Amino acid sequence: MNEYRPLKVALLGAGSVGSQVARLLIENQAELAARVGARLDLIGIAVRDTKRVRESVPQELITEDAESLILAADIVVEVMGGIEPARSYILQALNSGSDVVTANKALLATHGTELFDTAEQVGAQLYFEAAVAGAIPIIRPLRESLAGDTVNRVMGIVNGSTNYILDRMDTAGLTLEQAMDEATKLGYLEADPSLDVEGFDAAQKAAILAYLAFHTEVPLESVYREGITKITAEQMKNAKRDGTVIKLLAICERIAADEAGPEGVSVRVYPAQIPATHPLASVRGAFNAVYVEAESAGQLMFYGAGAGGVQTASAVLGDLVSAAKRHVAGGPGLADSVHANLPVLSIDRVTTSYQITLEVKDQPGVLAQIANVFSQHQVSIETVEQFAAEGRNTTTLEIETHDATDASLSSVVKELAATDSVARVTSVIRVEGY
Ligand code: HSE
Repeated sequence: MNEYRPLKVALLGAGSVGSQVARLLIENQAELAARVGARLDLIGIAVRDTKRVRESVPQELITEDAESLILAADIVVEVMGGIEPARSYILQALNSGSDVVTANKALLATHGTELFDTAEQVGAQLYFEAAVAGAIPIIRPLRESLAGDTVNRVMGIVNGSTNYILDRMDTAGLTLEQAMDEATKLGYLEADPSLDVEGFDAAQKAAILAYLAFHTEVPLESVYREGITKITAEQMKNAKRDGTVIKLLAICERIAADEAGPEGVSVRVYPAQIPATHPLASVRGAFNAVYVEAESAGQLMFYGAGAGGVQTASAVLGDLVSAAKRHVAGGPGLADSVHANLPVLSIDRVTTSYQITLEVKDQPGVLAQIANVFSQHQVSIETVEQFAAEGRNTTTLEIETHDATDASLSSVVKELAATDSVARVTSVIRVEGY
């Protein structure tokens, strides 16, 4: 086979992912050339500040002139992160006919439509396997492998640092603060930890997954989001006692038309109790996993490292090889369709089961009074458990509901809190995965 001309690769960013991409490209050049049918030449690495570049990165390739580098390249790899200048650089690359590989979830979640439209108009390709769940292949399965199927639900643990925090609370009995301190020391949290613990990072990833799963544009503002900052050690302990575990879940779900409205999709991030037997319950430490339910394929689980320089670089390299192969073979590449454009539904259309824990007065008639509050708001109780009090005149009730809407559950909780016999509403948490 005649070898195609060498392909020029420009790298934007030399941080933990970029430096590993550069190393792998250089170390594995011969093997990659054999796989692609063309040599991949790393022609330069653009950084914001040349003085802050790691020693391991080939210094002769470093430049601050990203624009000239982009103009000279066949394929541009963007691993610098942030919105600007990454957005302008990617648009410049696409408009000059280059394919782009990016790991930038924040950019895709906020400006994805602009980037995908530009790529389609100019016939260039945008690859983004590394943008969601690091090394785990999940973009390609949704984009290609399941392209002939109907995805109904995607439920993922897509933020490693919060999974680490919740896992340490579960397995070591740590408080949220103690577990966050550990995660900070291990360097798991983003520079702004609220991106992780308030669920923003997971929401960005959920928007990207839902876009691919449902062929629908998902504005980031339409993703419902709750973080883990209100989860207590007591909730964790009680979840364990019940044979469940609390995880921060990103859920993308197709919702059928019903009396409340038309068919649509719900995209949401919140902590929820799942049974200890659910496949996502066994995802420990800072690992990620994405559980997909498709009409024909059934249930699929994708598991692995959701972050880390070299792990994420693996996903970037995979995209780079795909982009390079397209150059060699010619022809159009993948284009994602948003033909379905289903409405993204508010949390009001979602029904889930809840677990509510109450400290109540231990006296006759209390249970009936509480049951009455639930029935008044059309929330059906599935189970009630009572735990013996320790020498006080109160007792703990743990109530699990059948599926209920967020609005009706909020009304129940509000009324319970104002009920005489209720000393305290200790915990309200959604239950998923049954
Ligand atoms: N902050 C992210 C996480 C890093 O904890 O998973 C990868 O996006």
